[in-house]
Amino acid sequence: MTENNLMDKIVSLTKRRGFIFPSSEIYGGFSSSYDYGPLGVELKNNIKRAWWKEMLQKKSSIVGLDSAILMSPKIWQASGHLSAGFADSLVECIKCHHRFREDNTKDNKCPDCGGELMPPRKFNLMMKTFVGPIEDEASITYLRAETCQGIYMNYENVLNSMRMKIPFGIAQIGKAFRNEINPGNFTYRMREFEQMEMQFFIHPSEAEKWFNYWVNERLNWYISLGIKKENLRLHQQTKEELAHYAKAAVDIEYKFPFGWKEIEGIHNRGDWDLSNHSKYSGHELFYYNEKNKEKFTPYIIETSAGADRSNLVFLIDAYEEVMGGRTQTTEAKKEVEVVLKFHPFLAPIKVAVLPLLKNKETLVSLAKEIYQKLKLYFIAQYDEVDSIGRRYRRQDEIGTPFCVTIDFQTLENQTVTVRDRDNLKQERVKIENLVNYLKEKIEIL
Ligand code: GAP
Repeated sequence: MTENNLMDKIVSLTKRRGFIFPSSEIYGGFSSSYDYGPLGVELKNNIKRAWWKEMLQKKSSIVGLDSAILMSPKIWQASGHLSAGFADSLVECIKCHHRFREDNTKDNKCPDCGGELMPPRKFNLMMKTFVGPIEDEASITYLRAETCQGIYMNYENVLNSMRMKIPFGIAQIGKAFRNEINPGNFTYRMREFEQMEMQFFIHPSEAEKWFNYWVNERLNWYISLGIKKENLRLHQQTKEELAHYAKAAVDIEYKFPFGWKEIEGIHNRGDWDLSNHSKYSGHELFYYNEKNKEKFTPYIIETSAGADRSNLVFLIDAYEEVMGGRTQTTEAKKEVEVVLKFHPFLAPIKVAVLPLLKNKETLVSLAKEIYQKLKLYFIAQYDEVDSIGRRYRRQDEIGTPFCVTIDFQTLENQTVTVRDRDNLKQERVKIENLVNYLKEKIEIL
């Protein structure tokens, strides 16, 4: 399978099986916008749940937040996002007038037609909008370009209301917007995307320790959810690469079919944000240590991941093709079978309930009863159409980790078979133990 081929297969599978659809399709599409379908929204929600569980539930010093997308435009002045620091170099072709990020071109030639390129100019990435009925200078604001600014705005509120002690973190998941010059590579680079960000407030003397701690933690998160180690690497940013707010940064990169690319950044933002917001707002943001009477501006170690990029990574890494019929049915032997080997916690459908035969009323009614019970705990599917082999394959293709089959033995001894997607083993489990059996395999992370 060539690398381009793999990307084409992912794009086609995700559309065919309801993971990701191009936006505004009946109007010819809308550049680099995508909609998450019924299975895609489950996968993405599960990724966000896994992140939330890891960053909040399992830690005692991190709390959550959901701040507004529209905020005072003064924030973006103070944060440096309205100046040259948050701008890409844009070049335009003299011949075809297509526009590119300068770093996506070579030898001053247009990647589309080979024409000469005009000199680069700076292009700010903030998405502008107007608040209220009059579209004038005074009503301009911006869709947030990173979710963390909402966290800085609430630093003091959270500190006081939750009686936090440094070191502590605030985590948030939400949409961010950037007017990217060259979005692309499916959902890798979009203009509207979702971030999962955590800001860890620390004493400046502990910056290195916490920076290294979070790089390690975040890398291990992807591995714990099944991403192959050989497809992940760390990239220490050079001085030239650093964002305007960062003192140091490490990118977690994934080996996409289109090359090694960033999926998450861990940044030492120093006191850039709290100091600038103090200066611009006239409201001092600081920390006071009651014990030693020290007053200081905390440093921030940030972990910033993309929910859409993670979603794409989990899809690509889970994708496997197997020749010759894993399901051992005659019709499958000559075909390529696709399996999405998601971690059970991430799988969109956790369990499928399948009566062995659809024309045996006793099997069907018991299967429906079991399905109704499982639906109270898991996203489940009921399927009675086609041979059992075909039904297993349909579930493998969307990554369902467990298939429960109701057969004639079920009627005799109240046990069902539970088929494991990855090793194909079938275990007989008592109906009364089924929920706990599945919970232990799915929810533990
Ligand atoms: N607050 C820091 C910050 O926003 P960033 O490196 O610009 O840092 C962090 O972005 C993460 O957000 C990236 O690693 C990526 O996962 C995601 N991201 C950034 N721009 C994106 C885009 N145009 N499309 C999809 N995801 C994007």
